[in-house]
Amino acid sequence: APVKVRKICCIGAGYVGGPTCAVIALKCPHITVTIVDLNKARVDAWNSPDFDLPIYEPGLEDVVRQARGKNLFFSTDVDKGIEEADLIFVSVNTPTKKSGVGAGFAADLNYVELATRRIAAVANSSKIVVEKSTVPCRTAESMRTILEANSKPNCRFDILSNPEFLAEGTAIQDLFAPDRVLIGSLQTPEGKDACEALRSVYANWVPSERILTVGLWSSELSKLAANAMLAQRISSINALSAICEATGANIDEVAYAVGKDSRVGPKFLRASVGFGGSCFQKDILNLVYLSESLHLPEVAAYWRQVVEMNEYQKRRFSKRVVDTLFNTITGKKIAVLGFAFKADTGDTRESAAITLIKNFQAEKAFVTIYDPQVPHAQIWEDLKEASPHLTLEQIQKQVTITSSAVEACNKAEAVVIATEWKEFREIDWQDIHSRMSKPAFLFDGRLLVDAEKLRTIGFKVTTIGRGE
Ligand code: NAD
Ligand code: UGA
Repeated sequence: APVKVRKICCIGAGYVGGPTCAVIALKCPHITVTIVDLNKARVDAWNSPDFDLPIYEPGLEDVVRQARGKNLFFSTDVDKGIEEADLIFVSVNTPTKKSGVGAGFAADLNYVELATRRIAAVANSSKIVVEKSTVPCRTAESMRTILEANSKPNCRFDILSNPEFLAEGTAIQDLFAPDRVLIGSLQTPEGKDACEALRSVYANWVPSERILTVGLWSSELSKLAANAMLAQRISSINALSAICEATGANIDEVAYAVGKDSRVGPKFLRASVGFGGSCFQKDILNLVYLSESLHLPEVAAYWRQVVEMNEYQKRRFSKRVVDTLFNTITGKKIAVLGFAFKADTGDTRESAAITLIKNFQAEKAFVTIYDPQVPHAQIWEDLKEASPHLTLEQIQKQVTITSSAVEACNKAEAVVIATEWKEFREIDWQDIHSRMSKPAFLFDGRLLVDAEKLRTIGFKVTTIGRGE
């Protein structure tokens, strides 16, 4: 019979583990949830007395305030967390491999493997181990092999796949009311019991028709498939935005007309400077690698093109800035508004802003950056990583970070909107215009501002997907 889950441990207190398990704690007061991580600074931030949490996510602080210290705990004691739990989420990072076989494509499963080996080493009782991280198809099989080869007598391990579909910026609302929760298990009686144990955790707040139970490999592949298809929509609309710019069609109107077809649907068709975030590119490259390993080169090439189109979009936008500013931005001051990969997050992983700024640096422009959430130290770290051949001092000769949009735009030749923060829409653009060099150029990489209104102020506005 399915075990009744009373204690949950989550390995990995990051963007997924933190919010996901905080919400489980809030919705399941009868379950004790402990989130463990090796990174002490991160755990300390989760435990900070004034709730200065390590990630910015609307609504998260409220959830943590309600549950922390009651049935929600954060700790660096990974072993104790494992020992006490009936069910363990593995929610560690799975970045793209930087070296070795599959470098640049395959997922680095080292963190998953280390966490799995730790479970095998310290568990003294049976556990349900849940793969929450996004992993290539059949990773659960490897986890099972490791666990079974190292387990003590009377310890049974059941492995489930339970990929996470939350988007950053809306994580809490996504977790409160998910489109679906997906659980994959072996179709054996034990596998089905484990699946039922996890299902009953989610059933505390998710309607049963939204909890889907499938086979392990389908579950793993569905996660990669969902991200690949979402990213493909953006690359499709961005490819069309290039045609719009060349023809005078308007990408907003095209997206609206196409999205009205109920088979296509209106969401996720916003043309942009390119998608960013820790997962889309990583997961597609992972799918490309998987396809190649399975000797399916045509399938690999198909998905690879989604990432290539995204790179093209970022290059194309940077070039449009240079072209518009009379073919040179050398020595010119460019203000970049937004550094996060999307609004309502402080996360900068794979943010399009990083690529744009690197391109502006290469053209020897002076760049000022403002973002309402990203810590300055994070911006420097990202710029340093993007230009390993430069020292921080060299980068700082060309780049300045400011504490307000107005300060960033002061005496600038051009403003580039890289992230769709609401505050950029509500800015006093008249004031900004008065502080800029003339002609004052504005490049809207997010279709965020009212271009017509800004033109009446005097801005020369360039928008994605409109040839003006
Ligand atoms: P993250 O880097 O924010 O967090 C991972 C955490 O795991 C880190 O704090 C790290 O210190 C910790 N960790 C690594 N190895 C450990 C170990 N052996 N023991 C204890 N702690 C360990 O990553 P994330 O953004 O939360 O992503 C985690 C996984 O979830 C990835 O596979 C990702 O693809 C997937 N995912 C992410 C999102 C998202 O929006 N970020 C959404 C869905 C799925
Ligand atoms: C995405 C998926 O939406 C989640 O379902 C998934 O769980 C997650 O990846 C993951 O696996 O990590 P996330 O990357 O947090 O979530 O944010 P999205 O809202 O998907 O945005 C990704 C990027 O696409 C952002 O840079 C965003 O600005 C861009 N985007 C999004 C567009 O350019 N146009 C759109 O219409 C939508």
